[in-house]
Amino acid sequence: MATILALETSCDETAIALVNCGSKINVLKEVVASQIKIHRPYGGVVPLLAKREHIKNLPLLYKKTITAADEKKISKIAVTVGPGLEPALWAGINFAHQLSNNLQAPVVGVNHLEGHIFSNWLASPKVKINFPAVCLVISGGHTILLKLESKTKWQKLGETRDDAVGEAFDKVAKMLNLPYPGGPEIEKLAQTVKDKSQLIPFPRPMANSKNYDFSFSGLKTAVLYYLKSHPAAKKSRQSAAIVAASFQQAAIDSLAAKAFRAAVELKAKSILLCGGVASNNALKNDFALKIKNSGLSRQLKLYAPPLKYNTDNAAMIAAAACWGHAYPAAKALPNLNL
Ligand code: KG4
Ligand code: ZN
Repeated sequence: MATILALETSCDETAIALVNCGSKINVLKEVVASQIKIHRPYGGVVPLLAKREHIKNLPLLYKKTITAADEKKISKIAVTVGPGLEPALWAGINFAHQLSNNLQAPVVGVNHLEGHIFSNWLASPKVKINFPAVCLVISGGHTILLKLESKTKWQKLGETRDDAVGEAFDKVAKMLNLPYPGGPEIEKLAQTVKDKSQLIPFPRPMANSKNYDFSFSGLKTAVLYYLKSHPAAKKSRQSAAIVAASFQQAAIDSLAAKAFRAAVELKAKSILLCGGVASNNALKNDFALKIKNSGLSRQLKLYAPPLKYNTDNAAMIAAAACWGHAYPAAKALPNLNL
């Protein structure tokens, strides 16, 4: 069984994991250092600051986590080579090459998005996901719907034509003067709205279009215009909460429209959610309820990784090195997508 050391530095989390890779992933060690506090004053991730923090954090985290005994077991070093912020990615890639020299282990490049998909198998070694499955990769940078025929065989059905859903959460949060990252803040505020009849009917762009693509920029603009014409909405926590809950429900409905249509058309046995936005409990509850209400509970199961594997982490990068594609990790960054 190969032991993989994985590094993740594509955005604002510096993460290291050590895993045993086989038909199941056994996570031996994992650590994540979040840079949220550093980027928060800027309202988003500043790439060069992210790079500086990764360069500072990587050796510290490595020393804290990986022992000499661990080092003897490492047969491969996996590092995220995209998609992500280029300066941040290079911090991880350069560190991987330094380690490779010291440990005499090869470096393999990994697609961050494959990592998010595989995070569904990190939840519990016992998890048994049936195929075909549809998978929503919903993060700050991506919104992609996939059909999975097996754990490693997938096909892209559609993706966002403009903003990623996480980006829309972050931008709407900013409009409401909530701190970065906006997703958890919107969710927290939205939870305070108990009466759904109060929700503002924001648009669900593309929800009825006959493809599997998404669009979130029109929804974001609708919130912006609403706030311009209702300036008082930002001033009271209660009315801001109604805006947050209305936006969140519109985003959930837009995702659900395509995911459920795909699930029915493809006779999927599972719906998988992954990426930072998959942490959203309102979304998970809504999907679970839609499965129940449509009488599909027997044949269609919903899966979402636990919180620590939704947001960026290195265990998922190790899983992608174990089961996914290998990319070069030097010279130029490959142009990665799914
Ligand atoms: O996967 P991730 O950690 O990083 C990327 O690869 O982008 O996703 C980060 C995104 C951010 O946009 C953040 O606001 C969003 O995930 N997010 C959430 C929640 N937690 C994180 N969005 C909605 N509800 C949440 N609870
Ligand atoms: Zn991510």
